[in-house]
Amino acid sequence: MAENTFDVVVIGGGPGGYVCAIRAAQLGFKVACVEKRGTLGGTCLNVGCIPSKALLSASEKFEEAGHGLAKMGVKVGGVELDLPAMMAFKDDVVKSNVNGVEFLFKKNKITWLKGHGRITAPGTVEVAGETTETVTASKAIVIATGSDVTPLPGLTIDETTIVSSTGALTLAEVPKRLAVIGGGVIGLELGSVWGRLGAEVTVVEFLDKILPTMDGEISKQMQRILGKQGMTFKLGTKVTGAVPGDSGVKLTLEPAKGGAAEELEADVVLVAIGRRPYTDSLGLDEVGVERDNRGRVKVDHHFQTNVPGIYAIGDVIEGPMLAHKAEDEGVVLAEQLAGQASHVNHDVIPGVVYTWPEVASVGKTEEELKAAGVAYKAGKFPFTANGRARAINMTDGFVKVLADARTDKVLGVHMVGPNVGELVSELCVAMEFGASAEDIARTCHAHPTLAEVTKEAALAVDGRALHM
Ligand code: FAD
Ligand code: NAI
Repeated sequence: MAENTFDVVVIGGGPGGYVCAIRAAQLGFKVACVEKRGTLGGTCLNVGCIPSKALLSASEKFEEAGHGLAKMGVKVGGVELDLPAMMAFKDDVVKSNVNGVEFLFKKNKITWLKGHGRITAPGTVEVAGETTETVTASKAIVIATGSDVTPLPGLTIDETTIVSSTGALTLAEVPKRLAVIGGGVIGLELGSVWGRLGAEVTVVEFLDKILPTMDGEISKQMQRILGKQGMTFKLGTKVTGAVPGDSGVKLTLEPAKGGAAEELEADVVLVAIGRRPYTDSLGLDEVGVERDNRGRVKVDHHFQTNVPGIYAIGDVIEGPMLAHKAEDEGVVLAEQLAGQASHVNHDVIPGVVYTWPEVASVGKTEEELKAAGVAYKAGKFPFTANGRARAINMTDGFVKVLADARTDKVLGVHMVGPNVGELVSELCVAMEFGASAEDIARTCHAHPTLAEVTKEAALAVDGRALHM
């Protein structure tokens, strides 16, 4: 085959696209991946999951060294922030991850076509990079172009004073006052980073609770815990104006339901009101690929668009905008293209917020079960009653298991607490196997571990928790 003919051409080298490319190559396809960014890995590795977790982890250690260890008899003096070094650490972490993907491409003989991809016809992609070339895909074109920041009318993101998550990962100094618009995942994670490093953080949220799509008890608990850590919340509030000043920005806030306006001054404003699918200059209208009313590429159960041979996965289609969801869709699509019966269980996709403590959730929330009229039982157990949590001096939070009232099948699990982002995987496995709360309760969990809270919550579904 000539250099510009491939079986599969993936547009976008993020977690959806690069994983799909690797799996397709493993299955014997000749694969190219078009990526216009200077490095592979997409939003997640370059300006999302990875740099944010590096800063979360570094800022956690800074705070712990400064305040958290004295109770355990560890006195640390002279703790200082070296922000350039912290940023350099974060950049190193990003570099090793994105280089890792490039290595995997070489290993799997995937061609990286550097430039902007545009579909010119089914089976044909034009790549505009240093030169412009046209490549063909005999089996599939995969749209994995991801998402971009949702702008807020009236606020111009300059990535210095008014920033998106991307600018919030590279601030040159700790702002004295940080206003965060949007009390969702990005707002709370990056608000935590800068709050720990010394900023006064005010979160302005349009709805009457933070993390509004998560289980209501999580929203309440996290508001209380983050409030104790110094974050201020202005809920049920909208931003109606922003005036840049000599130092920072003056925001005008109004109650979402109407009422008197107030002002909030901030040195830096982080806009984090969600992300939207990214399909700019992709040629979708020209080839007739349909999108829904939110701009997401419409696909069927096999990730195929309305145009045969053109598929889409990840943030650009329906569903949670999460890296692991994009990855799983990439794997499954590649396997389906190879004729395998493979599917993604969209009912069991965990969501984790990497604040401290962490939040983790999988399956249905209580609100969703009530709205659907499903009879359920709830078992809840707090970390305060767990020996290991006490021993590591991290007792905030709980695990809540929701099980079907009739069959005992686990329908959802919601957690706030230390390392719950790791603990939730046990529940994902359990739910994939259709486990009951009883199955989890009967499984031997090592002592003393944080995971015993999960077992106790499962026991609590039938009122049998042992340590409460
Ligand atoms: P993307 O990662 O967005 O990749 C799409 C790629 O396509 C981009 O590199 C883009 O340059 C390229 N592209 C687009 N159009 C073209 C074109 N026409 N031609 C060539 N290339 C093109 N998710 C988690 O699961 N866990 C987390 O902890 C987490 N943290 C996050 C933190 C932040 C600050 C942000 C912003 C997001 C975070 N996410 C997290 C979400 C996660 O980054 C996305 O869900 C994930 O990156 C989606 O993968 P994707 O492959 O669909 O798209
Ligand atoms: P989000 O959807 O999590 O939160 C946006 C918040 O902004 C919501 O609470 C919403 O009610 C609020 N909002 C919307 N319009 C508003 C307005 N005009 N004024 C005030 N508040 C407003 O979106 P976010 O935080 O921007 O993150 C984008 C995506 O990135 C998420 O969908 C998430 O899936 C992904 N992400 C995932 C992470 C993780 O898995 N740990 C970390 C960071 C991002």
